[in-house]
Amino acid sequence: MDTTTRSNRDAWEAASEKHVREYPELLAEAAAGTSLTPLERDLLRDVLRDAPDVVHWQSGHGADDIGLLQAGARSVIGLDYSAVAAGAAQRRATELGADCRYVVAALPGAPLASGCADLVYTGKGALIWMPDLNEWAADITRLLRPDGHLFLYEEHPAAPLWTWDADEPRIRPDRSYFAPSHVNDSFPAGGAVQWQRTLAEVVTAVITAGLQLLHLAEHPAPFWRMGGVDAAAWHGRLPNAFTLLARRP
Ligand SMILES: C[S@@+](CC[C@H](N)C(=O)[O-])C[C@H]1O[C@@H](n2cnc3c(N)ncnc32)[C@H](O)[C@@H]1O
Repeated sequence: MDTTTRSNRDAWEAASEKHVREYPELLAEAAAGTSLTPLERDLLRDVLRDAPDVVHWQSGHGADDIGLLQAGARSVIGLDYSAVAAGAAQRRATELGADCRYVVAALPGAPLASGCADLVYTGKGALIWMPDLNEWAADITRLLRPDGHLFLYEEHPAAPLWTWDADEPRIRPDRSYFAPSHVNDSFPAGGAVQWQRTLAEVVTAVITAGLQLLHLAEHPAPFWRMGGVDAAAWHGRLPNAFTLLARRP
């Protein structure tokens, strides 16, 4: 593991203690299945109809896994390098009797058999931690069965440029769309280094890995809002998230 990935993992281990502290609230939210958004349910409806075996890549505390099962998934395996997050996720799944299993692993390099998944579900702040997009896309493709799908719901690559001013959106003077990385200043913080890539780079990595692009859309609403912040940049004029669905032929 390189030094950036190691210090990012330390930041995530510390930040993931939040999931342990907030366990009761998160348990109730997961049981209600509400963390899987209507947008995700819509885009995944056909895939979930076939009762897929799901791999949740960078599963964190697995907020969405109960929702995926409730929406039709047969099983979920969550992968994350934070033992704290995976532990919280496993505790909750066990308590709810859900068919979820969590594996502590640094990604890419998933310790799972090739062709074990019908759906690799990922995003909501996941991709920015992958140092190499081609390795990311290749490992996900390896996990997919033929006709399996990759679903990604992520922060738009332009979103780190927006200020969180309440009156009107502005461009941060310390950020560039084409910079390779920046230091995270929201969550998990702790000096973690976020990788940046353009939307074109993400799409190109997916296609280069051999996946067929079925859907790509940009959305004005962010997938996550920092508590207590209501930025004008989130009010509909700028892209803040994107969704992507791709299929392994
Ligand atoms: C913002 S969370 C997203 C979690 C999940 N998608 C959710 O919505 O709850 C990002 C997760 O990526 C994990 N992560 C970051 N880099 C990783 C890596 N190289 N290998 C495995 N997990 C990683 C972190 O531990 C963290 O739990």
